[in-house]
Amino acid sequence: MPRIISVINQKGGVGKTTTAINLAAGLAIKNWLNVLLIDLDPQGNASTGVGIDPSQRDKSIYDLLIGKNSFSESIKKTKINNLKIITANPELSGLETELANDSQKAFLLKNLIGDSFQEIEKENFSYIIIDCPPSLSLLTIMSLVASNTLVVPLQAEFFALEGLSQLVKTIERIKINLNKDLDIHGILLTMFDKRNKLCGEVEKEARNFFGQKVYNSNIPRNVRISEAPSFGLPVILYDKYCAGALAYNEFVEEFITRETSKEKKVA
Ligand SMILES: Nc1ncnc2c1ncn2[C@@H]1O[C@H](COP(=O)(O)OP(=O)(O)O)[C@@H](O)[C@H]1O
Ligand SMILES: [Mg+2]
Repeated sequence: MPRIISVINQKGGVGKTTTAINLAAGLAIKNWLNVLLIDLDPQGNASTGVGIDPSQRDKSIYDLLIGKNSFSESIKKTKINNLKIITANPELSGLETELANDSQKAFLLKNLIGDSFQEIEKENFSYIIIDCPPSLSLLTIMSLVASNTLVVPLQAEFFALEGLSQLVKTIERIKINLNKDLDIHGILLTMFDKRNKLCGEVEKEARNFFGQKVYNSNIPRNVRISEAPSFGLPVILYDKYCAGALAYNEFVEEFITRETSKEKKVA
């Protein structure tokens, strides 16, 4: 089965979608791995970011979760080699209310992936990357239950660490009750401005508290990163040599290095 990674932080606008897209594309292009990106945010930003027009977002993750479509039917090609996507659309925001009386709802995504293993095997995915919505709602809980590990983008700003402690508490609760093997792969500082003193302080605090969990790579604030989605491309393809692309490439390399050192530890 593929490794399942959630890109998560309950705060909006911290770089989750940007990180999910560039991690997924980086693994697909640079490491020639088959990757599935799941857009789990009703806003559908990840779908936009890899060039899927709103009119092509039928057979979405919502339809898959309510059993209207099979896994294979939900998977769409992107213009990026080796990268496929399951899209999201606004219907997804109604799911929580629809499932209000379902006692197993937290396991919905996990069970679905488990039950679809033959279809997933056929696609030969090495990774499933899930772009989470900005909340700790059912969708995020589902994603935490289904995942092996988490990438947490942290915007280097004043309240960042406060939000993170709430996330860590949620992760601990999920580990006790619903997914005991879940761990944090790493924390990625985003929109980093090294001339800004506050950024440096947030970095220091994050490294003091989370130690090695904080990736060495930081993502700078970079205008090319914010332009890329309107061209339907991850920044690592939109402008290969801009500071944002170089930083995301470095992050993907670090991600892979952590993955291989983990494999060695297990072996
Ligand atoms: N490093 C960065 N530099 C500049 N703009 C960025 C950077 N990372 C993200 N953005 C922009 O900030 C906004 C929020 O980022 P996004 O990845 O959508 O966050 P989230 O998914 O956490 O809400 C988007 O418009 C995105 O293009
Ligand atoms: Mg997002």
